[in-house]
Amino acid sequence: MSVTERNLFENQLSMEIRFSLTSEGKILSCNKNGQILADRFGNSFLDFFDEQFMQEAMDYLKSVTESSEVIPALLHDRLSGNGVGTLYNGFCKNGTLFLAGFQTQLMTRLASELVHELRNPLTVIKGFFQLSSLTQDFYKYQGVIMSEIDRMHLLLESFLKSCKNELKTKPVLPDKLSSQLIALMASECTMRRVPFDYDVAFSENACNVDISMIKQVILNLTRNALDAVEALSGRTGQLFFRGTIEPDGYRFAVEDNGIGIENHVLKKMGQPFFTTKSSGNGIGLSLSKKIVAEHGGSFCMSSVPGHGTTISFLLPFAS
Ligand SMILES: Nc1ncnc2c1ncn2[C@@H]1O[C@H](COP(=O)(O)OP(=O)(O)OP(=O)(O)O)[C@@H](O)[C@H]1O
Ligand SMILES: [Mg+2]
Repeated sequence: MSVTERNLFENQLSMEIRFSLTSEGKILSCNKNGQILADRFGNSFLDFFDEQFMQEAMDYLKSVTESSEVIPALLHDRLSGNGVGTLYNGFCKNGTLFLAGFQTQLMTRLASELVHELRNPLTVIKGFFQLSSLTQDFYKYQGVIMSEIDRMHLLLESFLKSCKNELKTKPVLPDKLSSQLIALMASECTMRRVPFDYDVAFSENACNVDISMIKQVILNLTRNALDAVEALSGRTGQLFFRGTIEPDGYRFAVEDNGIGIENHVLKKMGQPFFTTKSSGNGIGLSLSKKIVAEHGGSFCMSSVPGHGTTISFLLPFAS
């Protein structure tokens, strides 16, 4: 490849890359950027890495496959008829491929699929109710209405089952956890070209944590913060991660200098399906609150409209 070709190639790769993979790393499907990589290096995701990174990529695949995050991924694939696969996000910078989180997208997609699926039986129920009141003949339509209600029950049950992840906690030092969260935030910020910085207090007390779940919380908070700074006009946005020690536990905070939140919005935040975004699902915060509560922790949000927002959560110390 010539230098220009190589630059062009790497520029194309600096955009988000998505793959749907088997646990062995075979590519089931990918987006346009993923296709560029696949065309160049072959149809196994692992071929993208040199010897040194291959092991890392394999470990990553293994850890994701073994974690509870796979359940919604598999369910998603089943629903969309893709066969069994898992979705990964990555991006490329200076010729190195980085892997980033993916579960939020799967969860939000899954949730929107559920909402979509529930709308169908609801429309039928509404129609038949209208018919029965028009014809004054409820019994004639009762059977259809009941079977549609049963269908909704089934959909909800399978969704709830797929979301019921048992926490797999282990004691982790907060600054060690922070460094993993920082890596995740940094990669999300790089992808969306937003400056990022952090400050972490050292603690000798560990917290009992399901790392993959807390990563999901940080991803949700980071993506919200990135949306808020991208909605800015006239000043540069930036994100900050702060880890502080409190008497009862360790506080992890995501700060942004984005558009901020009006009081009436702040009151509704965290309610399932509450969103102010045209393409939002309103799932991210409610899921995050649930995960933090399952860790015995608490959530805190503060915001100055027009100036920025801090969303933090406290995880109790192990003993
Ligand atoms: N850092 C933030 N700055 C400004 N508004 C925020 C911030 N974080 C959350 N919000 C508000 O809270 C709402 C709910 O957030 P939540 O993450 O639950 O859903 P969402 O981002 O709209 O959709 P998704 O399900 O894709 O995450 C957002 O629509 C937004 O109005
Ligand atoms: Mg969100």
